[in-house]
Amino acid sequence: MNAASQPAVLVTGGAGYIGAHTAKALHEAGFLPVIFDDLSSGSREAVRWGPLIEGDLRDRAALSAAMAAHEITAVIHFAGLIEVGRSTLRPDLFWEVNVAGTINLLTVMREQGVGRLVFSSSAAVYGQGGRGPLETIVETAAKAPASPYGDTKLAAEWMIAAQCRAYGLTAVALRYFNAAGADPSGLIGEAHEPETHLIPLAIAAALGDGKPLTVFGQDFDTPDGTCLRDYIHVTDLAAAHVAALKADLPAGAYEAVNVGSGEGRSVSQVVEAVSRAVGVPVPHSIGPRREGDPPSLVADPRRGRELLGWTARHSSLNEIVADALRWERNPAYGAGRRDPANRRKSLTPT
Ligand code: UFG
Repeated sequence: MNAASQPAVLVTGGAGYIGAHTAKALHEAGFLPVIFDDLSSGSREAVRWGPLIEGDLRDRAALSAAMAAHEITAVIHFAGLIEVGRSTLRPDLFWEVNVAGTINLLTVMREQGVGRLVFSSSAAVYGQGGRGPLETIVETAAKAPASPYGDTKLAAEWMIAAQCRAYGLTAVALRYFNAAGADPSGLIGEAHEPETHLIPLAIAAALGDGKPLTVFGQDFDTPDGTCLRDYIHVTDLAAAHVAALKADLPAGAYEAVNVGSGEGRSVSQVVEAVSRAVGVPVPHSIGPRREGDPPSLVADPRRGRELLGWTARHSSLNEIVADALRWERNPAYGAGRRDPANRRKSLTPT
């Protein structure tokens, strides 16, 4: 199939971690991913499957020109700020980028008659919300975001839902649980700067490249006292976006769907899996709880199966850790990123 016959999908934030993996999945499914990214945290090297347009979501004219130039048929919207801790310090900035930026995007979509959207939402919209530690989360569960980051994701969802009702937009909000792992090719993977996520930090600690890991709390009301999370392989996440894009939904439909495996894994289980994969114990100590961490966030994944025909296939802890480790060991990418000479020019995405 040549590029002209491939339906073009605008991927905002497509130079980032989940965006780049989704661009690859779109390409494999016969779409042309057109990446719109300001490269503030993503990287040029992660854009491999379609053109890159450098631009900021808040620049409506740039968005409009990008969409018109590529005859965009649908949008997958990743671009946004994601660091929960930073959101507590700069809530204004998070609202500006994550909410006002999304309003801009919706306006341009409406102007150009683009009627299909897949939106990056987050399990952060739920917070702990009075659930028991072993209770899984259905999409209709109470929403009690514990951070301004979660507030902005929920606000953007509400606005999108309202525009579906008002203007006939068709949208799916995917609420990600804990994205992890890397493409098995080793070409793209997780490279946040700074890195705050458990799996890359545990791998770096075991490889001797990073500081020993601090486990944030061992006194939660969970089976082993450490937090439970639902780790979802980024390849599964990418596939969920393609399924959401293709789902047979009527004009005006708005759907929110959890993207998780349905399995809760504790911080201690992750530490054990990384130790097994690397072949040495992860150096770690137990520290205090991190502010805002709910004891458990585990998806009920049934809605994704029913509505999108999607289910996690690569999200065992062993497969996630094996792929993340391959990426971290790849000298051109993960390992290269840890060389101070490469830092911040770097390599892949957020
Ligand atoms: N953890 C540690 N030590 C670390 C880092 C993390 O013990 O050095 C623990 C955390 O306390 C948590 C678990 O590992 O229990 C996972 O933490 P991550 O930082 O990897 O991921 P989060 O669950 O905090 O964050 C994820 C997404 C966010 C989203 C959030 C919703 O990455 O984008 O879920 O709560 F906002």
